[in-house]
Formats: sequence, structure tokens, C-alpha cells
Amino acid sequence: MNAVFFKKTFFLSLFVLAFFISCHRFSPPASSVSIDRGRYLSVISGCHDCHTPGWAAAGGKAEEKIWLTGSDVGFEGPWGTTYPTNLRLNLQQMTEDQWVNLAHVLHTLPPMPWWILNAMTEDDLRSLYRFIRSLGPAGKPAPAVVPENVVPNTLVIPFVPEKMKK
Ligand code: HEC
Repeated sequence: MNAVFFKKTFFLSLFVLAFFISCHRFSPPASSVSIDRGRYLSVISGCHDCHTPGWAAAGGKAEEKIWLTGSDVGFEGPWGTTYPTNLRLNLQQMTEDQWVNLAHVLHTLPPMPWWILNAMTEDDLRSLYRFIRSLGPAGKPAPAVVPENVVPNTLVIPFVPEKMKK
């Protein structure tokens, strides 16, 4: 084998090898559905801010055993009083497919940002579901919605637009 030919094939094979290694490194995993991704999404999309008791007050911290167990401190506004639901219990009531279907069309009273769930990809929603289910059931159901003009018997955080103040 002459030296020039050897050099050419040697460098060509190095290049081909490098190409395949880089493809492997940067191609997405076969499935991007995972419990870890669900955990990450629950934190960065703000679910804990309302659905985990004490999370916001502690600057984004709470013991994992109370994560997403809901709250009995209501949000009171022109819509009545709503309570962040217990997702650990509620997701036990549905299959993964039912969750995906619900989350894509969910529309609740304020201040739940339902549009965040509507915008998530199917893989995001499946990851979130698997993460929440992996935490297991815990806590008690949140109080039911209290209609406008009925005084709630729990603590509330009032959402009062300035001009409605008495
Ligand atoms: C600003 C507070 C707030 C944030 C942030 C928030 N929620 Fe909610 N969520 C609520 C409240 C309050 C309700 C109850 C609304 C009602 O009664 O109509 C609710 C209702 C829901 C419901 C419907 C009821 C049920 O349990 O099936 C789901 C599902 C839900 N939230 C999931 C999430 C997820 C997932 C996130 C993160 C992407 C999130 N929420 C972020 C406050 C919040």
C-alpha cells in the first residue's frame, strides 16, 4: 500500500468515525418520556408554586413527601374561591392517556395557568404524569370551589383588583 493512499484512507476513516460519534451524541434519546423530566417540568413550569404547600414562601423548597398535595388556603377573587388541588390524589383517578387528553383541553377557574398544560407536548405530559404518580398518593383532597358571594371558612389569599376595594 502506498503511503499517500494510506494517509488518505486513514484520515477519511477518522472523519467518518467522528461523524458517527457526533451523531450519536446529539441525537435525541429514543423516548424523551421520563420521571426525571417530569420532576424538572414540575419545578420549572411552576406547579409547586401553588400545588405544594409552603413552596413559594420557602423560596421554592418543601419536603418531597408533601409535594403537589394541594392546599386549603384558597385564592379568593371575582370568580369565588378556588383551592390548588391535590395532584397526588387526583392523578390516581385517571390513566396516563386520560391525563394527556384532559391536560390538552383543561380550562379551570383562576388563578390556575391552564394554558401551560394545554401547551405542553405529549411527552412532557406523560413525563409529568409518571413523575407525579411516582410520588404516590398523599395528603387530603383540597376543599371544593366556593362560589362567589359565599364566605369561605378557610384562610384565603385575596385577589382584589384595586377598584373593587371597599
Ligand atoms: C397560580 C397558582 C397555580 C399554579 C402555578 C398551578 N396551578 Fe393548577 N390549579 C390551581 C388552582 C387554584 C386550581 C383549581 C382551579 C379550579 O377549581 O377551577 C388548579 C387546578 C389544577 C388542575 C385541575 C384539577 C385537577 O386536579 O385535576 C390541574 C390538573 C392542575 N391544576 C395542574 C397543575 C400543573 C400540572 C401545574 C404546573 C404546570 C399547575 N397546576 C400550576 C392553581 C395553580
